[in-house]
Amino acid sequence: MELTPEQVKQFDRDGFLLFPNLFSEEEVGILRQETDRVSQIRSEMVVREGETEAVKIMFRLHETDGETASPAFRAAAHTPRILRAAQQCLHDDDVYMHHSKLNMKAAIEGSAWMWHQDFHAWHLDGIAEPNMATMTVVLTEATPLNGCMYVLPGSHKEGRSDPRRDESTAYKLWVAKTPDMKEYMKKYPEPVPIVGGAGTAALFHCNLLHASGHNLSAEDRWQIFFCFNQCKNRPADVENPRPDYVRSRNWTPLTIAADDGIVTAGRELTA
Ligand code: SIN
Ligand code: MN
Repeated sequence: MELTPEQVKQFDRDGFLLFPNLFSEEEVGILRQETDRVSQIRSEMVVREGETEAVKIMFRLHETDGETASPAFRAAAHTPRILRAAQQCLHDDDVYMHHSKLNMKAAIEGSAWMWHQDFHAWHLDGIAEPNMATMTVVLTEATPLNGCMYVLPGSHKEGRSDPRRDESTAYKLWVAKTPDMKEYMKKYPEPVPIVGGAGTAALFHCNLLHASGHNLSAEDRWQIFFCFNQCKNRPADVENPRPDYVRSRNWTPLTIAADDGIVTAGRELTA
């Protein structure tokens, strides 16, 4: 996949692009099977929450080694549909993955992600420039009831706001302060929901304000996130760096692989 110059301009202007049905039913089926498999693993890379200890997040699916490695998710990350789009929007062919994560947002128990910009945490990781972008793919239908993500168009232009620490969920993060967020909501167009059938994707800028609500539905909302950075923007050394599964030290430029890589990986998994 090659984005048109208009799409790249749209990304620069709005901070995100939507891709309805970017991945086929067959591809999504393979990725869902892998989600099931990896979610059984007990590891610090698999974060759980709630009464039933449902999985909230799984990290580091894209590498060849490690407990949560998944050949199918690795293949997805290297498809032109994901990697080329990230390269184009970052205006750089040399990009690597800062981390990958899969948010499972379990039925009834899956908690909200308050409004935030991803780059705050990544800046604390030692990354200087907000030249990063995330490709996310929904692996189950995403709806407002099951806690779909919302983005605030154009808000990446705001630069980095001064956040507060949110300790209210199983995964602690930096979120926008309420008075600031109220101002941003007045200033920018209506939030856009990232909704659609499984296989729908979105690419968004690391300073774009985004959030998602609690999953009030009876079905899980599964969604993978691949976070890309320019190799030249790799993190500087910091004191007490976060673990490799959130702050990768694999800064080798990623190379584009076959667009049917997920299907090939799926065949190997069942062989
Ligand atoms: C995130 O912003 O990192 C997660 C959002 C979501 O899973 O809805
Ligand atoms: Mn985020």
